[in-house]
Amino acid sequence: MKPDPALKFSVFIAASIDGFIARPDGALDWLPADGDAEGGDFGFSDFLASVDTVVMGRHTYEKLLSFDVGWPFDGKRVVILSSQTPNIPAPLAGRVSWLAGDPHRIAAQLAAEGAQHVYVDGGTTIQAFLRARLIRRLTLTRVPVLLGAGIPLFGPVAYDLPLQHLRTVSYSNGVVQSDYAA
Ligand SMILES: NC(=O)c1ccc[n+]([C@@H]2O[C@H](COP(=O)([O-])OP(=O)(O)OC[C@H]3O[C@@H](n4cnc5c(N)ncnc54)[C@H](OP(=O)(O)O)[C@@H]3O)[C@@H](O)[C@H]2O)c1
Repeated sequence: MKPDPALKFSVFIAASIDGFIARPDGALDWLPADGDAEGGDFGFSDFLASVDTVVMGRHTYEKLLSFDVGWPFDGKRVVILSSQTPNIPAPLAGRVSWLAGDPHRIAAQLAAEGAQHVYVDGGTTIQAFLRARLIRRLTLTRVPVLLGAGIPLFGPVAYDLPLQHLRTVSYSNGVVQSDYAA
């Protein structure tokens, strides 16, 4: 199935040098704190402002719910991917929806609903969208730590997925961020 050219899927994610996005138990304590990027947020707010839709795996959604912070996606269409009905707390009712299935079918549904730029989040979820060749842009923020074990960002692919390097910036705390087009 050919992706809709009007619909762009992007990834914006932080990983350890050895390629993990969370510790085995999902902990994110190794991530730099807000403001560590020379007072900024490594470009995340600008990226978030550019998307109209967020698609995230159930594990990432549940992790987000466990944080004692407000909902960070006001004004965005937010879709949780799960094979089972996710738990949607009352304050989020009507602000998140739920989909399941093949990434191309999900893409077709989002396109039909008018989505134009989608932020894809969660390790397993990103891997599925990469394998489906739907990801057009990947911003990878490398944190200078080896975790040794954890939840991997990347997984098996049946064929090489070539990436075009667009830009790399390094921060004084050792964080290195690269943008790739796929
Ligand atoms: N470092 C970072 O920047 C960063 C960013 C995001 C997340 N994280 C961390 O990464 C961890 C989560 O990543 P993860 O790889 O474990 O999982 P994930 O991608 O967040 O969630 C995986 C789950 O999503 C559902 N899913 C994904 N694609 C689906 C599809 N096409 N159809 C139906 N269901 C689908 C399945 O849920 P069911 O099992 O319910 O079917 C699957 O088990 C969390 O600890 C999170 O905090 C880190």
